Amino acid sequence: MPFDPYRLARPLLFKLQPETAHALAFTAGKLIQPLPGMTPLISAICGKPSPSLARTVCGLTFTSPIGLAAGLDKGAELLDMWKALGLGFVEIGTVTPKPQPGNPRPRLFRLPEECLILNRMGFNSEGARIVAKRLRNRPRGLMVGGNIGKNKATPEEMALDDYREAYRIIAPWVDFTILNISSPNTPGLRRLQAPEMLRPLLDGMLSTRREMSLERQPLFVKLAPDIPFEELDAIVDVVVSCGISGIVATNTTLDRGIVSEVNRAKVETWGEGGLSGRGLKLKAREIQRRILKRLPRTVAFMACGGIGSAEDARIALDDGAALVQIYSALIFEGPLLIGRMNRGLAAEKGTR
Ligand SMILES: Cc1cc2nc3c(=O)[nH]c(=O)nc-3n(C[C@H](O)[C@H](O)[C@H](O)COP(=O)(O)O)c2cc1C
Repeated sequence: MPFDPYRLARPLLFKLQPETAHALAFTAGKLIQPLPGMTPLISAICGKPSPSLARTVCGLTFTSPIGLAAGLDKGAELLDMWKALGLGFVEIGTVTPKPQPGNPRPRLFRLPEECLILNRMGFNSEGARIVAKRLRNRPRGLMVGGNIGKNKATPEEMALDDYREAYRIIAPWVDFTILNISSPNTPGLRRLQAPEMLRPLLDGMLSTRREMSLERQPLFVKLAPDIPFEELDAIVDVVVSCGISGIVATNTTLDRGIVSEVNRAKVETWGEGGLSGRGLKLKAREIQRRILKRLPRTVAFMACGGIGSAEDARIALDDGAALVQIYSALIFEGPLLIGRMNRGLAAEKGTR
């Protein structure tokens, strides 16, 4: 097992405000990434994903089923680094059509003893044009998904216009696109999940995809974990009947019940926001299983929410997910987690 510098850095990073720690880690990544020979060195230390992990989903070839969930690399700034660390794909974004600052700080909190994060970032985004420009230099061999959303100032009834605008700018530079209609931090966004709102949104996006001759590019929709089962079934039916390529589930939860009782009062003092991390795992898994039961195998599924080990990933894949995504676990375990998950999955595969 390689020496893990994150073990040394973590106590220091966790003394800082979460957003400051994030900015520091990102700055370090951006400084290291372009140094000659650095990404090959990182790749050699972390190990490339075993060829046995490669898979084709929606016609795209992924070197590993493990990918980065949206929100960590919103602006597609560290793609070479993610590839070197062994990820099969990265979901960039959420990218909004126009730049916007997001919610006021503090807007990011962590509970290390439960590997839990609360965020109300509110789609801080440089805007689609800047991100698309950066994507022109993206590395080969790493699948990139563009997660898009609407600007805060755009009224719900105009949401389709925003998704279209962001799509037109981002889609030509990515391998697949994800419509984020499940962030709890943009007022009204989750209402777009209601079947009567969802159908026109998806139909509209599919027609934009056709207009751009991008029919072969997969289009996903990302759902929340806080949807009652009956409504979830109706949403899945809309997704299937519209002809969308797949579903990503789940986003963060508003359910404070996933926090242990001893820490719940503390989390309440942090205020509004979505929770992610270890405590989300079982809740997300229930939603994922409900979706997968209803989803025809022709529609792809990406599992997200509390996944933090090869075993978690294996369970999701065995349940029928084509790919899995991680976010919070990376904050608590550090980037070498990716290699450990790849090796763990490959080893299990070998013994099957
Ligand atoms: C700080 C933070 C920012 C996030 N930003 C986004 C975002 O912009 N778009 C999105 O679709 N999901 C976003 N997410 C949700 C993650 O993509 C993921 O769905 C969620 O965290 C559950 O996965 P996890 O338990 O592995 O973290 C964010 C999560 C965190 C912790």
